[in-house]
Amino acid sequence: MNQEFRTIIEPFRIHSVEPLRITTAAERAAAIRAAGFNLFNLHADDVLIDLLTDSGTGAMSRDQWAAIQHGDESYAGSPSWFVFLEAVQDLFPFRHVIPTHQGRAAEKILFTAIGGPGKIVPNNTHFDTTRANVEFTGAEAIDLVIPEGREPASEHPFKGNMDLTGLEALLTARAGDVPAVFVTITNNSGGGQPVSLENLHGVRALCDRFGVPLFLDACRFAENAWFIRSREPGQAARAVPDIVREMASLADGMTMSAKKDPLANIGGWLALNDDALAEQCRNLLILTEGFPTYGGLAGRDLEAIAQGLKECVQPDYLRYRIRSTAYLGEALDRAGVPVVKPIGGHAVYLDARSLLKHLDPLQYPGQALAVALYEKGGIRGCEIGTVMFGRHPDGTESPAAMDLVRLAIPRRTYTQSHIDYVIEVVTAVAATASGLPGYRITEEPAALRHFTARFEPIG
Ligand code: F0G
Repeated sequence: MNQEFRTIIEPFRIHSVEPLRITTAAERAAAIRAAGFNLFNLHADDVLIDLLTDSGTGAMSRDQWAAIQHGDESYAGSPSWFVFLEAVQDLFPFRHVIPTHQGRAAEKILFTAIGGPGKIVPNNTHFDTTRANVEFTGAEAIDLVIPEGREPASEHPFKGNMDLTGLEALLTARAGDVPAVFVTITNNSGGGQPVSLENLHGVRALCDRFGVPLFLDACRFAENAWFIRSREPGQAARAVPDIVREMASLADGMTMSAKKDPLANIGGWLALNDDALAEQCRNLLILTEGFPTYGGLAGRDLEAIAQGLKECVQPDYLRYRIRSTAYLGEALDRAGVPVVKPIGGHAVYLDARSLLKHLDPLQYPGQALAVALYEKGGIRGCEIGTVMFGRHPDGTESPAAMDLVRLAIPRRTYTQSHIDYVIEVVTAVAATASGLPGYRITEEPAALRHFTARFEPIG
């Protein structure tokens, strides 16, 4: 890209458009009340700018749509499977690649094989489905991010890093109970923060010392690699795929959602080197997902993912991607809205606990802020805090490490003017934050309550 000018443009033009429906404040107030004040319960056509997730919500390219036409739906040995396999192994040269319909299906299969009561799985920070899949087997999920990773305002270039001292202590005490160490790149629940190569090497060294395998939860590997290239000493001249291959070379396997960096609307995989474990996982795959050459996917999806994997490591795309997320975060920061810093890769995280100081964490400040953004401007974000993580398997409740609202940016979907609108709405809501009500939960399921719980405002 031409570096003579400051403006970093979208490296694409628009080929097919989707309408957005503008609603009135009264319509939104009625919609959110009917949804039990849970943004997951809204009809998406009542949402104007949907920043609920960057998962499966990206815009596919012309070449991905063209690849879909190449989809071969043979039950076994489809050519599309080999296209997919080659694209995955080009970046992640693990011996076994097991396709699944999305990331959590890969997690379910792996943890069914390696989890169980008495086991303990450390991670820099478990994503919600990862934690739930670990806990569902009776194993314990432990988050060991560096202390800076729990401080929204602390500037650290790799706030997703694993706390190596904590990991060493855990492995010293319990290595025999640890079936795998996980590192999530980027650290989604901790603010979309990257993990450095240096830190990954450190985790690898500990895993070697204690004889424990290392797995990557690699959903946002390309964004993580871009941060390594731009922030880690000595990495600036490297090609992104080369950095990705080094990350992969440090691990024994990975779980993956193709709905994130690979720019697909569905898909995922589990990849690993251990032959015996792979066989066990493939047997579970056949039970729950499908035959090993398509897993949970149609041939056409395998093609779209393969093409997306080529596009998501291109420097013009990643420069635009990371810059456009920072554009939103930096504007909010300048307007005095507390955000997690530095700005993450796929999302901007508002620090609701610090903005809504008048609320106790058990009055769900993140939920309160997310509801207000919808009511004010039709923007749908996602609480990542005490609603998502505050309830424990034993039924008790305590505040999460942080109460955040994530504004996740779908890939290649919204333009700069959409984002300028978001900046205006968030700034307006922040100005009235001290008057926003807290919430109480009126109904909740036993696990993953944030998806279906119903709320009511307090007072
Ligand atoms: N791991 C991480 C770090 C994730 O962010 C997600 C999904 C998954 C695993 C599970 O993948 O959705 O394909 O089953 N994150 C989405 C989000 C849902 O909104 O952050 P999946």
